[in-house]
Amino acid sequence: MFVQTVYESKITGNFGPLALLALQKSAVIRNQEKGITSFLYHDEKRIFHVVEGDPDVLQDTLGRIGTSAQHDDIKVRASLRCKKRSFPRWYFGATNADDPHFRRVFRALKKPAFFNLDVVEAIQILQIVASRKRRAVKMDQFSIKVRNFNLSKEPRGLLAVR
Ligand SMILES: Cc1cc2nc3c(=O)[nH]c(=O)nc-3n(C[C@H](O)[C@H](O)[C@H](O)COP(=O)(O)O)c2cc1C
Repeated sequence: MFVQTVYESKITGNFGPLALLALQKSAVIRNQEKGITSFLYHDEKRIFHVVEGDPDVLQDTLGRIGTSAQHDDIKVRASLRCKKRSFPRWYFGATNADDPHFRRVFRALKKPAFFNLDVVEAIQILQIVASRKRRAVKMDQFSIKVRNFNLSKEPRGLLAVR
């Protein structure tokens, strides 16, 4: 049995591609170790994040997420027990309105603004986006990417956001 928690929060500062990459770098490794899976959507102001895993471990992760200065006004929109994860292959997937996969799916479904959707619908859309992204990045390539996040030498771009 897993727990899936969905929260929304307000971005406090810069949450551009480099900030997201830096976040991904730490979260992917930690989530992989703890068996947490997650998928995030954000615009310039807000974050919508689905986090799922074993109840005890998840509590820990949510605690860490809650203490981050990168966002505030965190509101849990849903927290439920589930037998299957919605994002079983994603330790820390992310998308936004600039992502061509997201744009294509969202435009085709003719939905109102993402943050106006109900939680179930929002998760379904992110699942479609995630499956499209996997078509472009196969799982074996993805795990190579995860290992790459573990390099002791950081990609140069990350230095800029420290
Ligand atoms: C939007 C957001 C999502 C996060 N997701 C995860 C996560 O999935 N797993 C995790 O271990 N930490 C997660 N974190 C926590 C960060 O990895 C990091 O521990 C936290 O930002 C504390 O660093 P800071 O004090 O420099 O902000 C998240 C933080 C933010 C802002």
